[in-house]
Amino acid sequence: MKTVFEYAEACLRSPSIEEKLALTHQAWQCEQSGLLHFDTNSPVMAIADVNFPAKPALLPPRAMPNRKLTTVDGVVAFFHAIAHVEFMAISLAWDLLYRFRGLPEQFYRDWLRVADEEAQHFELLQGHLRTLNVQYGDLPAHNGLWDHAVDTADDLPGRLAMVPRCMEARGLDVTPGIIAKFAAVGDNVAVALLTRILTDEVGHVERGSYWFKFVCSQQGLAPEAHYQTLIKHYYRGGKPKGPFNREMRIIAGFSDTELDWLES
Ligand SMILES: [Fe+2]
Ligand SMILES: [Fe+2]
Repeated sequence: MKTVFEYAEACLRSPSIEEKLALTHQAWQCEQSGLLHFDTNSPVMAIADVNFPAKPALLPPRAMPNRKLTTVDGVVAFFHAIAHVEFMAISLAWDLLYRFRGLPEQFYRDWLRVADEEAQHFELLQGHLRTLNVQYGDLPAHNGLWDHAVDTADDLPGRLAMVPRCMEARGLDVTPGIIAKFAAVGDNVAVALLTRILTDEVGHVERGSYWFKFVCSQQGLAPEAHYQTLIKHYYRGGKPKGPFNREMRIIAGFSDTELDWLES
């Protein structure tokens, strides 16, 4: 394979966890060695042709096991849920760079790096689950994460608003509190793992903000007003609920106006 889109399509089509991980790392290595091409002429497959593994079983949020961090089963369910988010994030990063063509090369390099970091996050969590005697796929997982990609398959500003600037940004709000809970019980491994992920996620949201503004300016849209329009259009249930981590979201490219609106 030579082009980033060939890697993207192979990764998105594969239902195998191992193959998705291996292709993601290969593509990033190829980019780092200066061997990856970014020719954008190949056709784009339909989002319905993206495949996922047979396990975990994907169920509605209300069917998820209890994730209370005060019990061993709750901690296992929590890490399984986070592993699933990271696993889906690999395909979300790939689909973002695969589906939207004609952007500067840096756009593709940025989301390829994100895909590789998501694969690393997943592998860290997969390893952590094994120490808890669980495999990724042993528990059911949330069926809704891919819906945002399907909803925005033809809308790049919508994709950037909903995936990095809504779903991933949510992680910046909630993860510090979860880290504090693990710190309070002396679980240093969980603290280190979640801190590593949080640090990278600030960067992912920041790239989302950067490219959101870039694409809005290309399309003659006012970014702050258009962000509101897109959230109102795509977010199920009106608007994300706080509390919001203003400090980290500012670092990740949110404006005070956007944060004031989210909080209002
Ligand atoms: Fe991640
Ligand atoms: Fe991420």
